[in-house]
Amino acid sequence: MRLTMIGTGYVGLVSGACFSEFGHHVTCVDINPERIDTLNAGGIPIFEPGLDDLVKRSVSAGRLKFTTDIKEGVDGADAVFIAVGTPSRRGDGHADLSYVYEAARQIASNVTGPCVIVNKSTVPVGTARAVEKIVAEVAPPHQVEIASNPEFLREGSAINDFTHPDRVVVGVNSDFARQTMREVYRPLFLRETPIFFTGWESAELIKYAANSFLAVKIGFINEIADLCEKVGGDVKDVAKGIGMDRRIGDKFLNPGPGYGGSCFPKDTLALLKTAEDYEAPVTIVTATVDANNNRKHAMVDRVVNACGGNVSGKTIGILGLTFKPNTDDMRDSPSLEIIPALQKLGAKIRAYDPEGRHQAEPMLPGVEFADGAYEAVEGAAAVVLITEWNEFRALDLRRIKANLAEPVFVDLRNVYIPSEMRELGFTYSSIGRS
Ligand code: NAD
Ligand code: UGA
Repeated sequence: MRLTMIGTGYVGLVSGACFSEFGHHVTCVDINPERIDTLNAGGIPIFEPGLDDLVKRSVSAGRLKFTTDIKEGVDGADAVFIAVGTPSRRGDGHADLSYVYEAARQIASNVTGPCVIVNKSTVPVGTARAVEKIVAEVAPPHQVEIASNPEFLREGSAINDFTHPDRVVVGVNSDFARQTMREVYRPLFLRETPIFFTGWESAELIKYAANSFLAVKIGFINEIADLCEKVGGDVKDVAKGIGMDRRIGDKFLNPGPGYGGSCFPKDTLALLKTAEDYEAPVTIVTATVDANNNRKHAMVDRVVNACGGNVSGKTIGILGLTFKPNTDDMRDSPSLEIIPALQKLGAKIRAYDPEGRHQAEPMLPGVEFADGAYEAVEGAAAVVLITEWNEFRALDLRRIKANLAEPVFVDLRNVYIPSEMRELGFTYSSIGRS
């Protein structure tokens, strides 16, 4: 089949590369000429493990190409996927659909035959219908149907998530769209991946409900972690104990500094906006959003307390800036709340992140960037581990201690074992372990 991806970000580029690995011919279109130049020069504009090799393989097999030209991009396409950003709209938290609508208009104006426009971006209920209206206004001389195909991949494990998903959700309202989407996903269907067809509205809501449910799960374990600290429990044991119940499951029960990233924060807000519009409150998500915002500030208090109640004039070494490991994505990372708050209290920040520096530098003025973990903690009054990159799991802790001015270790991801840290002579603070 001939497929087109509109947008070459974390979703568009990964999906495009994976579809071409399945054997489809894929053209990726982006309005950002730098991105397309980088891709055409053999580079990858984002950090995602394994993407480099996958893209190279498909490009040299002649199944994957990149262009800024929408006309060239949709020429002969059987399906055109919209994978552009849907950030929170400034001021009100609704999803900003302007990029989606613009892409739909461009596609409809350039199709050269019957095709399906597929919303892969995360979009609120009603968007498929709105895209259908845009297509009707453009009135292309070919049959154009709409499908809603939300994406569930996670950054850092995006290729495996895309090629081995728990399910594929496709919202359709025509046989043509259903048949086309069945063909698109045939390689996964042959691997017995459930392909779940629904109507447009359900598909759109499934995406927001899934992300919001996961956010609630994280919010829940974070509050249980706080309770553990008060009552003398260990949140790792509590999470394991409840997770062994298959009705609950053991995933997404790791406490931390609050969820971040390009999706949970904006998607929970957008769900709440839809709920408000339709007067069907989802109060559990409201509570989760509030608790997650407060949590980042509570992490600042935790660092200040670990430093004896005052960080003014002290250097704090930060390990990890991205919202999770194995990505360079800084969008809504907890570090963007924690670091400026510490700076406001007079702390000097020296930070290290294995891949996040290029995005983080413009977002974190006043921060000194180090080239490694040991350099970041040199002469610091405390080290704060914010993101659990693998290279922070096997630190030479004696070297860390020797480099620190004070042996204070604040571990916001529970990477280390409290008794071992105490034996090494650290004043160690972690999450949900009294
Ligand atoms: P991104 O910001 O990384 O990439 C979006 C790309 O679209 C950019 O390169 C931008 O230049 C391009 N673009 C915008 N308008 C365009 C147009 N008219 N024509 C061509 N290109 C255009 O975004 P992302 O993280 O890949 O997310 C895309 C969507 O997928 C969002 O709705 C997001 O919520 C959803 N999603 C993201 C993830 C994730 O892990 N990042 C996972 C699942 C779903
Ligand atoms: C999330 C979902 O997991 C994907 O299914 C979805 O497709 C994607 O959002 C999206 O819609 O964009 P992602 O944001 O890449 O994926 O990363 P996650 O692994 O879900 O982590 C999100 C945040 O939650 C991170 O800040 C992470 O540290 C935090 N988290 C996650 C926890 O604090 N505890 C956990 O147990 C899991």
